[in-house]
Amino acid sequence: ADTLGAAAAEKGRYFGAAVAANHLGEAQYAATLDREFNSVTPENEMKWDAVEPNRGSFSFSRADQIVDHAQGKGMKVRGHTLVWHSQLPGWVSGLGATDLRSAMNNHITQVMTHYKGEIHSWDVVNEAFQDGGSGARRSSPFQDKLGDGFIEEAFRTARAADPNAKLCYNDYNTDGVNAKSNAVYTMVRDFKSRGVPIDCVGFQSHFNPNSPVPSDYRANLQRFADLGVDVQITELDIEGSGQAQATNYGNVVRACLAVTRCTGITVWGIPDKYSWRSSGTPLLFDDDYNKKPAYDAALSAL
Ligand code: XIL
Repeated sequence: ADTLGAAAAEKGRYFGAAVAANHLGEAQYAATLDREFNSVTPENEMKWDAVEPNRGSFSFSRADQIVDHAQGKGMKVRGHTLVWHSQLPGWVSGLGATDLRSAMNNHITQVMTHYKGEIHSWDVVNEAFQDGGSGARRSSPFQDKLGDGFIEEAFRTARAADPNAKLCYNDYNTDGVNAKSNAVYTMVRDFKSRGVPIDCVGFQSHFNPNSPVPSDYRANLQRFADLGVDVQITELDIEGSGQAQATNYGNVVRACLAVTRCTGITVWGIPDKYSWRSSGTPLLFDDDYNKKPAYDAALSAL
């Protein structure tokens, strides 16, 4: 196959991209998306501040634009994200524990119900663990007011809202075996042993010279898969250029394919000019939508 999506599909996987609604009107952006990818993740449009800016008042129009576009082209949609400390409206952080718990559960239920049956995988909870060696939870309104149990509660609420969506925990700096990924691993193992509904773990995979593709990336994906969950590469971008960047992209794709339960890869943007990293060239297409060496390496690894 000669596109990322078609080549991944031949391997039983999806190959997706993060999409911003405000770029869909750009002809080359839409053409590249439609040609190459078979899954999309709204880059910001499904986050709490976008869909529930005020308590109980939901606005889905920007996210719907992306979902409608994707469905019109036969692409699947990843949901990102329901419970996260960032891009969280101020009214949420201002709530006391009782209100916060009901606001969290209501948010999950309303958003998942709006998209019921339309999302293949949801990032139910994003980035709940601290960086560094502690393996501790990150401070957030949810963690600080509801305690460790908020993650489990979010997953149980999510399962009830859309029983057919795969429910994922998603994080960064968990791509190799380290203290942070060990902490996530311990949580997932505990959830599986107690029947807490979790189906997948997302590995953001934002790589740069300070945080390169780990040599034990495949082994780390495999140990999570061995717990009985799918694994997904959810926000891939790799700083660099030329052959070095290409080699890294090829290695990431091969790592996913080597793990039976690695069900798909999403890159965090299409052309370099729209990357969330304002400087740098971490994506597969240059600013004019030309395929980079990284693209060729990803495609030929599939
Ligand atoms: C980023 C978006 O790409 C930016 O446009 C936005 O300003 C900030 O968020 N981890 C995540 C993503 O889970 O939601 C983040 O996306 C990148 C880091």
